Amino acid sequence: MQRIGVLTSGGDAPGMNAAIRAVVRKGLHAGLEIFGVRRGYAGLLADDFVPLGAGSVGDIIHRGGTMLRTARSEEFKTEEGFARALEVLAARAIQGLVIIGGDGSLRGAERLYQRGILTVGVPGTIDNDIPGTDESIGFDTAVNTAVQAIDRIRDTATSHERAFVIEVMGRNAGHIALEAGLAAGAESILVPEEPLDLSEICARLKRGQQRGKLHSIIVVCEGAGEGFKLGDVLRQCTGFDTRITVLGHVQRGGSPTARDRVLASTMGAKAVDLLVEGQGGVMVGVKRGEIASMSINSALAEGSTFNHQSYRLAVILAQ
Ligand code: F6P
Repeated sequence: MQRIGVLTSGGDAPGMNAAIRAVVRKGLHAGLEIFGVRRGYAGLLADDFVPLGAGSVGDIIHRGGTMLRTARSEEFKTEEGFARALEVLAARAIQGLVIIGGDGSLRGAERLYQRGILTVGVPGTIDNDIPGTDESIGFDTAVNTAVQAIDRIRDTATSHERAFVIEVMGRNAGHIALEAGLAAGAESILVPEEPLDLSEICARLKRGQQRGKLHSIIVVCEGAGEGFKLGDVLRQCTGFDTRITVLGHVQRGGSPTARDRVLASTMGAKAVDLLVEGQGGVMVGVKRGEIASMSINSALAEGSTFNHQSYRLAVILAQ
């Protein structure tokens, strides 16, 4: 192993820069030559490479986004696009590739491995929906961003005695909604992984008001229903003055938390170790606090990692 590449793909996540930095500096330490691929798989097809030295990843550990930029490439999924990617990697004599991204990015890594490229996946997505790891890069920052926003909304909700529906990201995974809702003391948390009982939610909100609660905070994962539609339903069934906030892409930006920086640094360095050992088709993860690795195929075959126990706790504590 002499020359490796690193790319970020799919939705960006705070901490991706820290992971790139770790790949570059650990790779240099191991005597490797490192190239960054800009704009994910799209940049791979376009042969958009940049050599990365120790100084090129200076002053990025605290920055959100990704210095390599990112994209979701439909072309890479086609036979022609994939063949072009293989041609570019061969022409550049890239023997190993670290791919930082979500499940779609990891599937691309597995596909490249099947065609002889040593690939190591690093889970980077705010959604935290990657089986095979307890946590993905960016999740902690996104949850903290959502909690800060909900705390602010709670202030105004209390002053006006209002109900607020707050829609958070996560696609079809309710991890952000659950952790942010639990941490912010939400009255209700709606996630795709748990059945939705609107009449029970309305009854709970009314009970809270009767007990003297001055506000109601309902956190909904985007995959469990649209915030605006839910707001209409709750307004009708409770009669509460209801407002809706969609947090949106604010959850994807911002300086990564210390936890995300450490996670990204550890995972990025481990990815290089695995390449140096000659491993491919694997992903890095953390399991019960320990850094781990497993085949991408077996990791993605694991089911949802949604924490139903935490959800039940949130329901009890919200009463
Ligand atoms: O996968 C990360 C994520 O932020 C999801 O939570 C969200 O549904 C999606 O990406 C938004 O994608 P885009 O940035 O393309 O609008």
